[in-house]
Amino acid sequence: MLENFMKNKILVTGGAGYIGTHTCIALHEAGYDFVVYDNLFNSSREAINRVSTLIGQTIEFIEGDIRDAESLKQVFAAHHFFGVIHFAGLKAVGESVAKPLMYYNNNVSGTITLLEMMSEYDVKNFVFSSSATVYGNPESLPIDESSKRSCTNPYGQSKLAVEHILEDLAVSDDSWNLIALRYFNPVGAHPSGQIGEDPNDIPNNLMPYISQVAVDKLEKLSIFGNDYSTVDGTGVRDFIHVTDLAQGHVAAFDYLEKQTRLNESGTTQQYSVGFLPINLGTGKGTSVLELVSAFSDVSGQAIPYQFTDRRAGDIASCYASVDKAKMLLGWQAELSITDMCQDTWRWQSMYPNGYDVS
Ligand code: NAD
Ligand code: UD1
Repeated sequence: MLENFMKNKILVTGGAGYIGTHTCIALHEAGYDFVVYDNLFNSSREAINRVSTLIGQTIEFIEGDIRDAESLKQVFAAHHFFGVIHFAGLKAVGESVAKPLMYYNNNVSGTITLLEMMSEYDVKNFVFSSSATVYGNPESLPIDESSKRSCTNPYGQSKLAVEHILEDLAVSDDSWNLIALRYFNPVGAHPSGQIGEDPNDIPNNLMPYISQVAVDKLEKLSIFGNDYSTVDGTGVRDFIHVTDLAQGHVAAFDYLEKQTRLNESGTTQQYSVGFLPINLGTGKGTSVLELVSAFSDVSGQAIPYQFTDRRAGDIASCYASVDKAKMLLGWQAELSITDMCQDTWRWQSMYPNGYDVS
C-alpha cells in the first residue's frame, strides 16, 4: 500500500457483477475512487445498492454498454481516470457455443471499443479479467504464465483474442500498461452475506450448484465423471475466494500506480509494464468430492449427488503457479476452502433467490 498518496480514479466496467461488486468494496477500502459502468445484462441495481450500503456511500454508477462508443465517450470526458478494470463480459461457456457471435461481439468488439476510447483520452492503465481457460488442457501442473495457450470454445477464444490484442497493443506503443489477470475458479461471497454470485438460471458452475442443492432449490448434484486420474477420480480445480481475488485487483492497481510514480519522479529509468499476464489462484487443487464434503460440513446440510458422464471440454486438473503474483504484486490468496464454503453458505441461506427480493 502506498502511503500519503492521493489515490486515483478507476473506471470499473462490469462492476455490478459478481467479481466486480467485491472488487468495488476492496477498491474503496484501499482508498481508490471509482465509477461503475455496466449494462446490467447479468446484474442488478440491487447489487449496486448493497455495495453502496456496505461501503457507506453512494456508488457512482452509469448504466451503459461497452460497445456504445458515444456513451463511453461521455464517461471518459467527464472523469479523469487513472485506469480501467475491465470485468464487463459474458461468461457462460455453453451459451458461447450456441451464440458465438454474441460472445465475440460483446467480449472482443466491446473491448476494442473500450480500448479505443482509452487511447483517445490517453488512459493507458488497464486490468483485464482473463481466465485460466486460456490454458486449455495444461501440459504440466501447476500452470505458470508462460504455459502454452489454447481454447476450444468461443468464450475461451474471446478471452484469448483479447489477450492477443493487448499483446499487439503493448508492442505498438510502450505507454500502455496492460495486466491480464487470469482467474482460476472464483467462488465464495462477501463475509457480510449481502453480496455474492447470483446465477440467472440453473448454475453451470460447481459451487453455486452445490449451494443451491444445500438450500433445497435443486435436488441433487451431478458430478461430471469419477474416472479422472486425480486423488478421488473427480475433477480438481483451484478455487479462490472472491474477496482474495478482489484484493488481487487492488494489488494490480497499486503496482501500476507505483510504476507511474517511479516514472514521474524522473529518478529512475522509464519503465513500461507492457502486456503482463498474472495468475490469480491459490496454487492448491481441490477435488469436486472434497468441495462437496467441505460444504456439507460447513452448512450441516447433506448434499445428495450422483456420478454422471464427463462434461464435454472438461479437463482433469487445473491449479495455478502463484509465484508471479507474489513476486510482482506482493499478493497471495489468504482464505481457505472452509472460508469459501462458509461465506457462500451465508449468502445463499440469507438470500436463496439472490438479488431478487420481490
Ligand atoms: P458477471 O456476469 O457477474 O459480471 C459481468 C458484468 O458485466 C455483469 O454485471 C454484466 O451486466 C456486465 N456486462 C456484460 N456485458 C456488458 C457490456 N457489453 N457492457 C457493459 N456491461 C456488460 O461475471 P463475473 O463472474 O463477475 O465475471 C467478471 C469477468 O471475469 C468476466 O469478464 C468473466 O468472463 C471473467 N471471469 C469470470 C470467471 C468466473 O468464474 N466468474 C472466471 C474467469 C474469468
Ligand atoms: C468453467 C468453464 C471455464 C470458466 C470457469 C469459470 C467449462 C468447460 N469451463 O470452468 O471456461 O472460466 O467455469 O466460470 O465450462 N462440476 C460437476 N458438476 C456440476 C458443475 C461442475 O461435477 O454441476 C465439476 C466439473 O466437471 C469440474 C469442476 O466441477 O471438474 C469445476 O467446474 P466449474 O465450476 O464449471 O468450473 P470449470 O469447469 O473449471
